Amino acid sequence: MGRIAILGAGYVGVCTGIALSQQGHDVTLVDVVASKVAALRTGRVPFHEPGAPEALARAMADGRIRATLDARKALQGAEYVFLCVGTPRKTDGSPDLKHLRAAAQRIGRALVGRSGFLTVVVKSTVLPGTADDVVAPKLARVSGRVRGDGYEVVSNPEFLKEGSALADALQPDRIVIGAPTPDAANRIWMLYRSFTCPRVTVDCRTAEMIKYVANAFLATKVGLSNEMANLCERIGVDWYRVAEAIGHDVRIGRDFIRAGAGFGGSCLPKDLEALVRFSGKTHAPARILEETLKGNARQPLQVLRLLRAELGTLGGKRVALLGLSFKPNTDDVRETRALPIYRALRAAGAKVVCHDPLAGEAFRRLARGCVIAPTVRDALEGADAAVFQTEWAEYQAIPPSLFQGLMKTPVVIDARRTFDPDAMAGDEVRYRAIGLGTPRPPVQPPARASQRSAK
Ligand code: UDX
Repeated sequence: MGRIAILGAGYVGVCTGIALSQQGHDVTLVDVVASKVAALRTGRVPFHEPGAPEALARAMADGRIRATLDARKALQGAEYVFLCVGTPRKTDGSPDLKHLRAAAQRIGRALVGRSGFLTVVVKSTVLPGTADDVVAPKLARVSGRVRGDGYEVVSNPEFLKEGSALADALQPDRIVIGAPTPDAANRIWMLYRSFTCPRVTVDCRTAEMIKYVANAFLATKVGLSNEMANLCERIGVDWYRVAEAIGHDVRIGRDFIRAGAGFGGSCLPKDLEALVRFSGKTHAPARILEETLKGNARQPLQVLRLLRAELGTLGGKRVALLGLSFKPNTDDVRETRALPIYRALRAAGAKVVCHDPLAGEAFRRLARGCVIAPTVRDALEGADAAVFQTEWAEYQAIPPSLFQGLMKTPVVIDARRTFDPDAMAGDEVRYRAIGLGTPRPPVQPPARASQRSAK
C-alpha cells in the first residue's frame, strides 16, 4: 500500500485523500492554513461537501488519514506526493502558479539527500506543459537531482464536481495519467488498481490538455444551451422540452444542457479564460470559447429582461434574490451568477433581499452591504418579484400559494427551472423562466372556399 502526502487540503485534496485512504493507502493531508488543519484533525471538513465529514471521520478513526501543517515531515516517508493546491486566476486570465511553485520548492528541498523514490503527482489544474516545463525543472533546481533520479513527475488531473466531489473521487468516470515513462505510469496506476473505470495513459502534456478540453466542452454545451434557450423563449418554445428530446441522442447526451443564468464556479469560467489566453499565445485562437465566455457574461442580464417585462421599471422595487451559490448543494460563491444579477438589480435601483440555504455569509463578503434574509419567507415577504438563481431542493418545495400569500406581487423569475412550469400555470403566480416561451395558439388552417360560402 502506498504512503501518500497530499499538499493542499481543499475539496480536491480532501476528497482525493479520502478516496485513496479507502483503497487502503496511508494518507497525510498537508495545508498551510492552520485553521483548516485544526478542523480536519477533529474530523471537521472546512467546506460543504456531502458525505465528506462522515467519510473523513471514519478514515481518521481507522488511522488511515491524518492532517498536518508540517510538509517536511509528511514528505519524509512518502512514496507519492499529490499537488492539490489552488491555481487561481491572475488578472491577465492565466492560472497563478505561486502555490504550485511553493509546493514544488518544498518537495525539492525534501528530495535533497533523500533515499527512496518519490512520485510527484500534479493534480491541480495547470496548462499543458506545466508538469514538464515548470514543476520538473523546479524540482531539479532545488534538489540538485535530475528528473528520474529518485523522483518522477506525473500528471493526474481531477474531474471532481463540487457537491458530488467525494462520490466522483470514489467512482470516477475515468482516470487519466500523464507520465513520461511506462514505469512512472505504472507506479501511479498501483494506487488506483482497484478502480474499475476506464483508464487513460498518456504523456503529461496530453493529460493536462484533457482536463482543459473537458471543461471547455462542458462550458460550451452550457453556453450553446443558454443561447438556444434565449431563442426558444422568444418564439414560444420551451427549451427544456427541446433539451429533453435532443438529450436522447447519445451523441448529444442529457447532461450539461440545462439553461440558466450562466455557468459559474471555481473551474469552468477560470479554465476557459486560461485556455482562450493560452490558445491565443499559441497562435491557434479558440474563437468558439471566446464567444462562450462573452455569452456567459451576458446571460445573467436575461433575468433583468424577464423582470422588466413583468414589473416595468425596477427602481424602488423590492426583489428577493434566492440561490446565491454558483449551483445547489455547495456553499461556494466563486463566479456565482447571483453576483452580476445582484449588481445589475442594485444599479437599476431595486431593493434586493437575498437568501441562500448555505451561502449567505460567503455572498455577503462578495456583495458588501447586501441584505441576507434568514428564511425564504423573510425574503419573499412584501417582495415585488422573486428571482431564483439556483435550484436548491428547499426552493423546489415552495408551494405557489406561498408566493401569493407573502409577496406584494407574485412575480417569479426562474433562472434555473427550479419549478415545473405546469405547477406554476394557475392564477396564483406570474411565472417566467429562462428558455420558457409562452406557447402560441396553433395556427388554424384557412377555411376552404366552399366552407366560407356555406356560412
Ligand atoms: C466543474 C467540472 O464539472 C469538473 O469536472 C471540474 O473538475 C471542476 O469544474 P464544478 O465547478 O463543481 O465542476 O461545477 P459543475 O457541476 O461542472 O457546474 C459548473 C457550472 O455550470 C455551474 O454554475 C452550473 O450551474 C452550470 N451548469 C451545469 C449549467 O448551467 N447547466 C448545466 O446543465 C450544468
